[in-house]
Amino acid sequence: MISEMSPIDRAKFVAAKRAADLVEDGMRVGLGTGSTAVWLVRCLGEMVRERGLKFRGVPTSTRTAELAREVGIEVISLDEARWLDLTIDGADEFDGEQNLIKGGGGALLQEKIVATASDQMVVIADVGKEVEALGTFPLPVEVIPFGWQTTQALIEEMLVSMDVLGRQSSLRMNGSAPFMTDEGNHILDLHLGRIGNPRQMALTLNQIPGIVENGLFIDICDIVVIGYGDGRVELR
Ligand code: 5RP
Repeated sequence: MISEMSPIDRAKFVAAKRAADLVEDGMRVGLGTGSTAVWLVRCLGEMVRERGLKFRGVPTSTRTAELAREVGIEVISLDEARWLDLTIDGADEFDGEQNLIKGGGGALLQEKIVATASDQMVVIADVGKEVEALGTFPLPVEVIPFGWQTTQALIEEMLVSMDVLGRQSSLRMNGSAPFMTDEGNHILDLHLGRIGNPRQMALTLNQIPGIVENGLFIDICDIVVIGYGDGRVELR
């Protein structure tokens, strides 16, 4: 099957498979969201069915929860788990300090809560997600629907004093309606080009009323498992 995959799918698959091997009996594991995380959940489901692996998973979205149940993983809530041994999730970008942009799939809020409640966070990504400086991928920011245009204006005003190349933002759409997160919020995508100081950006954004969370994951990720199109895997 792996030989029939496109290089990008192969890269995602091998990274996910390598990370799945980190899951041990008895663990409570955060399960990420996105196409790379789909491979992870499928690999873990196979390990449950074929090897009798016993672990409990805390999904980071309704999509992941549905798939996890479908493949035979025991699903529990974060409140039931309280604390996790490990979270494995994808990313939209990672830099040399293992800082991330996440939220391309719109699940950044649950993803950040779950990752922060974990002893270890492992990112699975194809090598194309590696960047020198974060910001080429539009930074997702989850905002409450009430007054979102005012929140957007406050963000754009704040960006004037930040070390970024671009300052545009757009409301994420799902067809002709605003995209809704699992929590019923909207996403603003910030087109920044390059974020000079991701740590400062993350802290400053979260001070604006109306912002629920931003997609910068600073000092949260411990290991990046990088997959290559030729099937190689590298751990950083
Ligand atoms: C979802 C995410 C995903 O992890 C991120 O978008 C990467 O997705 P993919 O594995 O499909 O490239 O943050 O909110």
